[in-house]
Amino acid sequence: MRVKLLFLVFFVGLGASTTPRTPIPPSKDPWYRPPSRFESAAPGTVFKVRQAPGNLTDMFNCSAVYNILYRTTDSQYLPTWAVTTLYIPLKSGHSPRSATTQGQGDAAPSPPFLTWLHPYDSNSLDSSPSYLFYDASTPFVQDLRTALSRGWHVSVPDYEGPKASFTAGVMSGHAVLDSVRAVQRARLPSIDDRNPAAIWGYSGGGLAAGWAAELQASYAPDLELAGVAMGSPVVNVTDVLYRVNNTPLAGLIPPALLGLTSQYPDAQKFLISHLKPGPTNDAFLAARNVSWTQAIQTFSGQDIATTYFINGLADVFAPEMRLAWGRDSCMGYHGVPWMMPVYVYQAAHDELASVDDTAALVARYCGVGANIFFERNQVGGHLEELVAGAPGAVRWLASVFDGTYSQKYPSTGCTIVDV
Ligand SMILES: *[C@@H]1O[C@H](CO)[C@@H](O)[C@H](O)[C@H]1NC(C)=O
Ligand SMILES: *[C@@H]1O[C@H](CO)[C@@H](O)[C@H](O)[C@H]1NC(C)=O
Ligand SMILES: *[C@@H]1O[C@H](CO)[C@@H](O)[C@H](O)[C@H]1NC(C)=O
Ligand SMILES: *[C@@H]1O[C@H](CO)[C@@H](O)[C@H](O)[C@H]1NC(C)=O
Repeated sequence: MRVKLLFLVFFVGLGASTTPRTPIPPSKDPWYRPPSRFESAAPGTVFKVRQAPGNLTDMFNCSAVYNILYRTTDSQYLPTWAVTTLYIPLKSGHSPRSATTQGQGDAAPSPPFLTWLHPYDSNSLDSSPSYLFYDASTPFVQDLRTALSRGWHVSVPDYEGPKASFTAGVMSGHAVLDSVRAVQRARLPSIDDRNPAAIWGYSGGGLAAGWAAELQASYAPDLELAGVAMGSPVVNVTDVLYRVNNTPLAGLIPPALLGLTSQYPDAQKFLISHLKPGPTNDAFLAARNVSWTQAIQTFSGQDIATTYFINGLADVFAPEMRLAWGRDSCMGYHGVPWMMPVYVYQAAHDELASVDDTAALVARYCGVGANIFFERNQVGGHLEELVAGAPGAVRWLASVFDGTYSQKYPSTGCTIVDV
């Protein structure tokens, strides 16, 4: 193992990739910087691999955890980078393709490889999952534990990228797709492009999963995905912002506005220049440095546009903002998930994301040949469905991993089920 790791470090070409004993916030950790001239590398190229610092193996009951820094593409279609964290289970599950053997006569199992998208919903780089998970109180990590206990290898990308571009769909989708390529190419034990690969996310993670699915055929047609599962995908960010304004979840809005415009410097400059002067200015901008949990507490119940912007909603939807909203906030316009089956699940009474928007998206994809299984849960709301919908997603993922999918689900067309 140690020998393999040294070989790997040599191979990737970085002498100085020593792992610090304790984790350092990404904004301060020099490891979170790409090499010079990284721009010319192809998307998915691995720049750095290290064993994750600290004790994530204890916290998540797994055998090893790696960080991988790789090349991806931002919402302006310019080169950027991102980091993913790969969790190796204590005991690998197997899949039909596990019969393949690798060199040196080793019987190499091909355990399922899940890319799981944590809804970190923050404009702070230091809330990226590769660092956030050291805080044992981080919410919504149960799905990661479930997947590891099934013997799945799990990659958790920081899909918002180096600017923590919460709600920027193109950036997020690209970072997810390139994280899959990077894990396959990182030359880590028992994982390469022969492991069946699938993607799963809920809420903010469903947004990233949805964008990855939609962008795959054009951006990463080389990737063979067994399936994509998305729960309560945020099909239309604007619609969600209207719905959460004045509610306990209003704290999603400031990081969303800052995250989206982090991909559009002119739009961000405009937005910030239209903040009301005085203490509310600082209060709004503090959203750049806080986690989801903190933002939810700080902005709870507020009417965000009228509290913070000189011209209220007119600033938020000004012509200067049009490209950002147009390109990055609505699914259904960048492609169709044609190349793998898709599972969608959502609460019929989801108060955060509109189930009608999701149904319209599914209909749009289905009209041109996608294969989608959509379960609408008649019980519970957005946060309840995160828990209640997980077993259905795990069952579906298990079927695409073990090859029983076509016996258990309709393998063509679209099926909508109310459960
Ligand atoms: C290791 O993880 C546990 C949670 O499982 C945490 O309570 C503890 O403080 C961590 N120890 C170190 C040294 O980081
Ligand atoms: C860790 O996983 C092993 C194997 O699945 C299990 O036996 C053990 O109880 C788990 N430990 C914790 C602390 O969850
Ligand atoms: C997104 O939602 C907003 C607010 O409900 C609506 O005005 C807009 O037309 C929607 N955009 C698309 C592309 O459906
Ligand atoms: C807050 O975030 C901004 C922008 O990301 C950064 O420039 C600044 O250094 C951060 N402040 C603190 C105290 O971390």
